[in-house]
Amino acid sequence: MRTSAIIVAAGSGSRLGAGQPKAFVTLGGRTLLAHSLATVAALRELLEVVVTVPPGMETEAHAEARRAGMTIPVKVTAGGIERQDSVRIALSLTSAESDLVVIHDAARPFASPALFERCIEAAARSGGAIAAIPVADTLKRVEKNLIAATLPRAGLYQAQTPQAFHRRLLIDAHERARAAGITATDDADLVERLGKRVEIVEAAALNLKITTPSDLQIAETIAAMLAK
Ligand code: CTP
Ligand code: MG
Repeated sequence: MRTSAIIVAAGSGSRLGAGQPKAFVTLGGRTLLAHSLATVAALRELLEVVVTVPPGMETEAHAEARRAGMTIPVKVTAGGIERQDSVRIALSLTSAESDLVVIHDAARPFASPALFERCIEAAARSGGAIAAIPVADTLKRVEKNLIAATLPRAGLYQAQTPQAFHRRLLIDAHERARAAGITATDDADLVERLGKRVEIVEAAALNLKITTPSDLQIAETIAAMLAK
């Protein structure tokens, strides 16, 4: 099926505190955005890529796409206030020719093309599919630094990106969320609210999300190992 990719890279990276937007912070010599562009460039049969960036960073994002050797059209747009706003804006720019969209956070530089393809294949089959990993640690609910409860971790997964959906379904989910004033931290949540099925594609812990300075340190170590 024809697929558009969306890379959301419009966040400010306030928890990383790098003094510049997170997607433009370098890891192993290239920006986080460049890592995701290179992964997407390796996908077969992709129609286009839409990238959201902080206002004013559009030219820089186009330059990154050129450096990544993208051969398909790359559309760059300023993102919105919340991640959900950025996805909605990007979705509105995807071609109506696309049957599927696959969304990825620039904050996850180690997602593999194979993981993207597994999500796309699963979404083509069932409507929606997201990368996720089973929760390994025991979970505690904490109030005022004291444990209030231990949560059974059976069946719990940590949601990641990529996340892939039928394009019309995701547009519908975003429109309804907006009308109802619902904000979610991922796209699957909005599709689940419509009562639609979303499959899990088991990913690897390597697909970590860079949020804090210590995440970036860990990622630098991994990037150096992968470069060997
Ligand atoms: N994102 C976006 N538009 C926003 C907010 C976030 O496109 N308005 C993107 C980020 O660039 C990132 C992904 O969504 O690739 C996940 O967001 P997060 O990890 O929270 O990144 P930031 O919002 O940049 O970080 P922080 O919350 O620490 O400011
Ligand atoms: Mg954020």
